[in-house]
Amino acid sequence: MGSLGAHPIKEYREKYGLTAMLETGTGHGEGANIGVRSGFTKVLTCEIDKDNWNRAMDESNRSPFIQFYLGDSVKMLPTMLDQLNEEKLLIWLDAHLGEAPTDKRLPLEKELQILTSKRDCRKDVIIVDDLRLYDRTLWDGAFNVFEHVKNPEMIISKEEIEGFFLNHKIIVSTKNEGALVFLPRESE
Ligand SMILES: C[S@@+](CC[C@H](N)C(=O)[O-])C[C@H]1O[C@@H](n2cnc3c(N)ncnc32)[C@H](O)[C@@H]1O
Repeated sequence: MGSLGAHPIKEYREKYGLTAMLETGTGHGEGANIGVRSGFTKVLTCEIDKDNWNRAMDESNRSPFIQFYLGDSVKMLPTMLDQLNEEKLLIWLDAHLGEAPTDKRLPLEKELQILTSKRDCRKDVIIVDDLRLYDRTLWDGAFNVFEHVKNPEMIISKEEIEGFFLNHKIIVSTKNEGALVFLPRESE
C-alpha cells in the first residue's frame, strides 16, 4: 500500500497553511506519525480493526498530537469532522481492505459523500491513496483486484472520485500503488 511519506507533506502544510490532518485507515500508525513529523500538532485518525488501533497507539508512543478513533470511517467521520471546523486540512483517505469486514472494506465513496456534504473542502489538500484500486486501466497489470474484492465493478472509479473535487487541481501520482492528489486552486 502507498505511503504518506511519498508526498511532500511539509511543503503542502506550509504552502497551503494547513493546520490539521485527518486520516481514515490508521493501520499501524505510520501515516499519522509522518503527519506529526511533518509539523502537524493535530492529527485525527480512525481505524476499524482493534488490533491495529492498539498497535498504532503504541507505535506513536501515545503521541499527544494524535487522536485515535476506533470504528468504521463511515461512522466516525462526522464526529471527527465536527472537531475540525476551524481547520484547513490535509486529508489522507487510506481506509481499505486490511482486516475490515467485507461490506466495510472499501468505504471511499461514502467517505467522500460525507466529507463534501459536511465541509467546504476548497482550502484542503486531499490525497486518495491506492489509486490502483479505483483506476480500471491499472487492473490488468501486476495488481489483480479480483483477489482482493468480490465485486470490483462496485468500486468507485477514478473519474467519479475526481468529480467530488472539481475546484481542485488534480495530480495523479504513480509512486507506489498510485494516489490522487487534490490541491487547492485559490492560493496559486
Ligand atoms: C493501508 S492501511 C492504512 C495505512 C496508514 N494509513 C498509513 O498511512 O500508514 C488500511 C487500513 O484501513 C483499515 N480499514 C479498512 N476499512 C476501514 C473502514 N471502513 N474504516 C476504518 N478503517 C478501515 C484497515 O483495517 C487497514 O488498517
